[in-house]
Amino acid sequence: MTLDTTQLNRERVFFADAEAIWLFGYGSLIWKAEFPYQERRPAHIEGWARRFWQGSHDHRGTPENPGRVVTLVESPGSICQGMAYRIGAEVLGPLDVREKNGYLRELTLMHFHDGSHAEGLVYLATQDNAAFLGDAPLDDMALQIATAHGPSGANRDYLLNLAAALEDLGAEDEHVVALADRVRDLRSMAR
Ligand code: SIN
Repeated sequence: MTLDTTQLNRERVFFADAEAIWLFGYGSLIWKAEFPYQERRPAHIEGWARRFWQGSHDHRGTPENPGRVVTLVESPGSICQGMAYRIGAEVLGPLDVREKNGYLRELTLMHFHDGSHAEGLVYLATQDNAAFLGDAPLDDMALQIATAHGPSGANRDYLLNLAAALEDLGAEDEHVVALADRVRDLRSMAR
């Protein structure tokens, strides 16, 4: 199922007159920053956990065989590590198109490694969006990720690139590591 959130996001203007906006990326926006930015800094947000619970019908899967990509779920006490980008407001239009399969612009407070913080945006896909898949047994999620492909490539690559980027950041994410290990096992079993 798909829901195009592009138009909804255009109406979600939180920083109307700002020349630059901080954007927090926690999924492909960490390792696939194919948009112009003025600055980027590792950052984290608090009270949220990254989960492969969002369906991808447009990038890493198809409507018939959706892939799984990350969204954030509320998790008191958790920290989600990612990358913050300082972008011009004009970059939001193309980002809305990229994140159109259920993600909405939301406000978030991001914390930088030097102890400073900034309010900015994050693209969040909540459980009431049409593409939300939710939790499933680890093996089922891994099999879905190992086998799904979409216009942006293999779902496996999305997961393994994210796992590598988080490792580079020194970020620990047990959910991502467990899925990446399982997907690698499936690949070696298939050989
Ligand atoms: C993000 O990376 O911040 C949002 C989810 C994605 O595009 O993978």
